[in-house]
Amino acid sequence: MRYGVIGLGAIAPFFLEAIERCPDSTLAAVCDLDPAKTEALAKEGTAAFTDYRQLLAADVCDAVIITLPNHVHAEAAIAALDAGVAVCCEKPLAITSVDANRMAEAAERNGKTLFTAFHRRYNRHLIALREALPEDRSQITKLTVRYHENILEHIGGDGWYLDPERCGGGCLIDNGPNALDMAHALVGGLSLVGARLGDVRSGIEYVAELDLVSHDGVPVRVELDWALTTGETKDVVAELADGSVLRADMLEGFTAFKSSLQHEYDGILADFRDQVAARRTVCGTGVEIVGLVEDAYAAGREESGRRRSKLPARTKAVRLLFHTSENRGMSLSQWGTRCIPAGQIHELVTTTDRPRAAGDRIDAVGFLGFVEFQEGTVIALGDEVRLADDRLIGTVAGFDECHFPNHYNIVIASDRLWTATSAGLEPGDDIRFVEG
Ligand SMILES: NC(=O)c1ccc[n+]([C@@H]2O[C@H](COP(=O)([O-])OP(=O)(O)OC[C@H]3O[C@@H](n4cnc5c(N)ncnc54)[C@H](O)[C@@H]3O)[C@@H](O)[C@H]2O)c1
Repeated sequence: MRYGVIGLGAIAPFFLEAIERCPDSTLAAVCDLDPAKTEALAKEGTAAFTDYRQLLAADVCDAVIITLPNHVHAEAAIAALDAGVAVCCEKPLAITSVDANRMAEAAERNGKTLFTAFHRRYNRHLIALREALPEDRSQITKLTVRYHENILEHIGGDGWYLDPERCGGGCLIDNGPNALDMAHALVGGLSLVGARLGDVRSGIEYVAELDLVSHDGVPVRVELDWALTTGETKDVVAELADGSVLRADMLEGFTAFKSSLQHEYDGILADFRDQVAARRTVCGTGVEIVGLVEDAYAAGREESGRRRSKLPARTKAVRLLFHTSENRGMSLSQWGTRCIPAGQIHELVTTTDRPRAAGDRIDAVGFLGFVEFQEGTVIALGDEVRLADDRLIGTVAGFDECHFPNHYNIVIASDRLWTATSAGLEPGDDIRFVEG
């Protein structure tokens, strides 16, 4: 099997190493928008490209592995299938069911394999649990899958994980597919019962809870958390009718960061090769899981759209500022929320930059001034900042701590740089923070 790997970011090395270990497999080509990432392999003689269409046109691969940001999976996979090449695509197969179905149609149309790389189903502890579970799955009274981590410890690349347009959401679309596939591997097909999204900041959920039921009636709960302070928990707990409890910890015995991935990615490649050899077209749970994630977003958003999590917080302008700067050099702190007691004073800074990840630099800023919070509140990313006449200044992008503990700079993403002059502020005016 001659492989092409498209996208040489954080996860690609696990595939590259698995290809090296896999018999009768060679790395024929690589592709990344950034030529620096393909340079070392190109020197060793691997064909290197910056455009996957050129890689496909070179006709040197039997299969491609797609390790691109989520929003590019569909277009790259369809181009590969239409070029007559089998596809092993990272999860999630796509962001929308429409795209996942287009990918499946392309696989059928071309008679080529479309496979989703759900690595956890090859984890040795998951396999042991599957074997230990009673054959009669109705003896399982509850299955709980947990996927808890600090996303900031996992992201590579250019911050696309924290951009809902390119990622498709937050922890639900990122870790949900692996967690759902693990449940599927243990109890079979699933239907969604309900979903809740929590800790939503700038349209990205950091917590999600899903209730599902297997087609055999086993209740399944999936708990996702992107906001652990540090570390990770990836496990499954099966409660049985006789009162016993079986547990599989995906990370047990794998002490180094991501070290369980080595054997899991070997498993992906072996399974993919079997599917290609058997001439299967659309394989596994990839398309179904895109649908479940989509349903969970719809259910979770309907639920959170019905409820407000907090009252608007009123503030009073106590010192106005009138200047802008193009080179301020502020830095986004790691915090997505800040608790602010009544009576505290903080500074409001608008920016046309789009800082997302901790440490992102903020240069283009306009200063509104200092405000005193009239009631205690929790300010969160995505909160709207509105003037007394309801005009929108922008939404909270985060916090800069260069003057803390004196005060936070509350950084407001805006389409222009506002100052007290352009906002028409007078000392004592109201400015409100409203849940976004
Ligand atoms: N990082 C992980 O732990 C992990 C685990 C499991 C699955 N995944 C999945 O793997 C995929 C990639 O994730 P990642 O963490 O490696 O991301 P990444 O940002 O580290 O890598 C993506 C790479 O793709 C390149 N790229 C972007 N657009 C391109 C294009 N149009 N053509 C060619 N190259 C392009 C980027 O330059 C980058 O090098 C995602 O779907 C993710 O969900 C990641």
